[in-house]
Amino acid sequence: MTDETINVRIPDRSSAEQGQGEYFFLTVNGRTEKISFHDYDKIYSIPGLYEKLFYDRYKCNSPEVVCSLLEKNLEQSDLDSSELSVLDIGAGNGIVGEVLKKIGAENIVGLDIIEEAEEAAWRDRPEVYQRYYTADLTQLTEKEKYELTNTYFNCLTVVAALGFEDIPPHAFSAGYNFIDSPGWFAFNIKEDFLENKTDSSGFSKLINEMMNDNLIDLKDKHLYRHRLCQDGTPLNYYAVVAEKKDDVPEDMVQQFL
Ligand SMILES: C[S@@+](CC[C@H](N)C(=O)[O-])C[C@H]1O[C@@H](n2cnc3c(N)ncnc32)[C@H](O)[C@@H]1O
Repeated sequence: MTDETINVRIPDRSSAEQGQGEYFFLTVNGRTEKISFHDYDKIYSIPGLYEKLFYDRYKCNSPEVVCSLLEKNLEQSDLDSSELSVLDIGAGNGIVGEVLKKIGAENIVGLDIIEEAEEAAWRDRPEVYQRYYTADLTQLTEKEKYELTNTYFNCLTVVAALGFEDIPPHAFSAGYNFIDSPGWFAFNIKEDFLENKTDSSGFSKLINEMMNDNLIDLKDKHLYRHRLCQDGTPLNYYAVVAEKKDDVPEDMVQQFL
């Protein structure tokens, strides 16, 4: 292991600057780079940086909020978390998997589109996932499809990974369709992305169609502060738990391509 000097400088931001996106400056061995909050590859490559930034500095608590909502709904249905077989998509470096383990889930598989996420998950939380796929859900290999189909998942989790610049509706649908019916679906999503008025992500339309066509049965929906924005204002998300009734059909997916 090399002795790197690492320094993180977070700029003071006013709300007027918010449209420019969120970023910080990372200096490694004297070389400084401006890093966007979506540069997950660079963030995961430094152990502890993701946690320091989003969890300590910007007070994210979404894995706990989503997993405890799931736990509460399982209890209300007289189900035990140890019976879950979870596919965690947009899994990152494994924080959601770690919380799922804490609530009693034993069988958890992670998936993320970038290899730095998988590397960080094995590096930081090697005991959490039984398997981890670096994969694009819309371009899976036959082997990946076979393995994911034959794992018989009964729960999908997606935390802080749906929508703009992250998992789009058609990729989400592919992940959702690997879950058995009946099954569980626990996720969070930006407030605007679930409300028709301002949604440009497609998720408001998709989730509403899924409810109207009885593909999901909404069990719980809770608006809360996902984290602070860089200007200090709250970034509100919905935590949602639903029961899966059926797959998303191909014609529903097509409109999001
Ligand atoms: C904000 S992080 C959330 C990580 C983790 N779920 C958590 O709550 O800490 C979003 C993650 O979604 C992943 N992601 C973005 N687009 C994706 C896609 N199309 N398929 C799978 N993962 C994706 C990113 O690589 C990143 O690791």
